[in-house]
Amino acid sequence: MNLPSLGYVLDVTYQWIKAGHLIFVIFWIAGLFMLPRYYVYHQESPPGSAEERRWIDRERKLRNIILTPSMILVWIFGITLATVGHWWASGWLSLKLLLVLGLSGYHGYMVGYGRKLANGQRPVSGKALRLMNEVPGIATAAIVILVIVKPF
Ligand code: HEM
Repeated sequence: MNLPSLGYVLDVTYQWIKAGHLIFVIFWIAGLFMLPRYYVYHQESPPGSAEERRWIDRERKLRNIILTPSMILVWIFGITLATVGHWWASGWLSLKLLLVLGLSGYHGYMVGYGRKLANGQRPVSGKALRLMNEVPGIATAAIVILVIVKPF
């Protein structure tokens, strides 16, 4: 019987982990695109209305079912890839980690902002929320260039 070599098994395992990483990257970033949009629409609803309550519910589900679990899985798969692939010393990964930490901070801020909205506060204008909504797109473009081109 011909057994596959250890190198082949490790290669295939690495590819499966990378697939898992990318699936949850897509879910996470899609959620980060949607959440501030929801907040903009939420802030356009009359305070205390049934419409506002529906937005609070949608936002909570998006955060708890998609966003936060996806972020955790992206980190777990990413750290596994970096360890198995011996990438920790690479310059591109250091810069990518800085950007991903920034994105995780943005995620945390947006989760906190949702709690404020649910408590009846609306501290940030719709215009500022729309501007902040550009952050995940810009960070994603920079991260994808870093992982694909690996310029350093
Ligand atoms: C949370 C921390 C993260 C860590 C530690 C991490 C680490 C890694 C590592 C080590 C690879 C493998 C590179 C290779 O085999 O060439 C990888 C692949 C990739 N990562 Fe991440 N990553 C993280 C988050 C993200 C985020 C947030 C994005 C996108 C916004 C992203 C996008 C990608 C892409 C597109 C690839 C595939 C590159 C290829 O096709 O080879 N990663 N990541």
